Amino acid sequence: MKVIAILSQKGGVGKTTLTTCLAVAAEADGKKTAILDLDPQATASFWSDEREAETPAVSSLQAVRLSAVINAAKSAGTDLVIIDGAAVARDVAQMAAQHADLVLIPTRAAVFDTMSMVHTLEVVKQLGKPAAVVLTFVSPRGYERADAEATIAELGTEVCPVVIGDRKAFSRAQSTGLAAQEYEPKGKAAAEVDALYKYTSIRLYGAAKEPTR
Ligand SMILES: Nc1ncnc2c1ncn2[C@@H]1O[C@H](COP(=O)(O)OP(=O)(O)OP(=O)(O)O)[C@@H](O)[C@H]1O
Ligand SMILES: [Mg+2]
Repeated sequence: MKVIAILSQKGGVGKTTLTTCLAVAAEADGKKTAILDLDPQATASFWSDEREAETPAVSSLQAVRLSAVINAAKSAGTDLVIIDGAAVARDVAQMAAQHADLVLIPTRAAVFDTMSMVHTLEVVKQLGKPAAVVLTFVSPRGYERADAEATIAELGTEVCPVVIGDRKAFSRAQSTGLAAQEYEPKGKAAAEVDALYKYTSIRLYGAAKEPTR
């Protein structure tokens, strides 16, 4: 079983959106997937309440219960756990990162957000966890993306080669219990999620799964 933690102490950067989209992508790839929702606002859990499909499973819990719940998921044959972190709480980020095989740090490509991302990076670095910053709400125009990528590279952290655009499909899907790729399967958001899922698979398992013929 592998664990991805999606963490940022900054609010509204796309943690829950990436969590739900990646979890749905993993289920479509045949992986039994569980979302662990650490946010007191329980956004991922509300998403699950709206959702007609029964998977992925979503559990709302406090970070102190992570070890027990992750062990239970493992015993139940879960292939992938995705932890949706809470904004602000540094101790929560620390506890979640401890369990992770990969930490994704969503960050809006704007200077202020890049600054606050540094706090999350410190936690991850202290624990020596594999990590990548995922740029979100990226606009096709402007220099912000290049600036953010340069800043992240200077900090010695990997920038995920897949960036997530500012797209309505993400918010529209989220409010109806869907993932963007279900809401608009042929849309750009769907293609971004697919590419991000492939990237996380390579980071977790070492190589992209070859199509079987
Ligand atoms: N790439 C995107 N393009 C457009 N809207 C997005 C995108 N990602 C997320 N959103 C929307 O932005 C809002 C914040 O996203 P989300 O809830 O995923 O952030 P978060 O980091 O989990 O926030 P919090 O810190 O409050 O938990 C939501 O309404 C979501 O639907
Ligand atoms: Mg959230």
